[in-house]
Amino acid sequence: MSERIRLGLNVDHVATVRNARGGHAPDPVRAAQLALAAGVDGITAHLREDRRHIVDKDILALKAVCDDFGRPLNFEMAITEEMVEMAVAMKPHAACLVPERRQERTTEGGLDVAGQHNWVGKAVSRLNDAGIRTSLFIATDPAQIDAAASVKAPVVEFHTGALCDAFRDGQQTVFDHELNRLRQAVERAHERGIEVHAGHGIDYETVAYIARIPHIRELNIGHFLIGEAIFIGLEASLRRMRELIDVAHAEVVA
Ligand code: PXP
Repeated sequence: MSERIRLGLNVDHVATVRNARGGHAPDPVRAAQLALAAGVDGITAHLREDRRHIVDKDILALKAVCDDFGRPLNFEMAITEEMVEMAVAMKPHAACLVPERRQERTTEGGLDVAGQHNWVGKAVSRLNDAGIRTSLFIATDPAQIDAAASVKAPVVEFHTGALCDAFRDGQQTVFDHELNRLRQAVERAHERGIEVHAGHGIDYETVAYIARIPHIRELNIGHFLIGEAIFIGLEASLRRMRELIDVAHAEVVA
């Protein structure tokens, strides 16, 4: 069996709750500290252009906490001059490039790498040159995978939102279709030498389907784990997710 799948915690949702009151609590940096102490492999945070959840001081404090633990900060960002400059100055371990629309509640779709080849390629090479491991958050679309390879992205993260929504809505045919697409997409990216991550909408029930796919190296999960922490605590929610990932991954025939 290949080495274990890394689990990254997205702490944006802690900041969303904090910002609902405009005060200091709950603090996403404290959530990151607890999660890292509990053994999570990395922290993801999305500094949106409108700063609706994570704000600049959070991202700097998150970077410092991750550095203290010797674990990666995955800086999720839109491809704008401001964000690229910020990433190059801050030098997080990783950056995940995502599309951003003001009206969306969350990152609803993948990045159109195929349609915005030059623009995405320029950002990837600046970040690669700065020593930042750059991933592209994309749909399970062969054209997007090939475009990611052609802009020399070392990593892609596949958007699992449609798959997880289909599961929760009981749409078996759509779920089977999405799972099949994800399997093929992971294989295609792996064949092109790209490291594969996945994320969005993953919960205790959907994680096993995803973790059973060979060659997935990292899962980034936020909303469900932070929500679950309300009931059972952050450490317990992370521990449970970790177990589910490991059990499912153990079934993968290397
Ligand atoms: N990965 C990326 C690139 C994302 O944009 C998000 C959502 O913020 C996640 C992972 C985590 O998704 P969720 O919060 O639904 O678990």
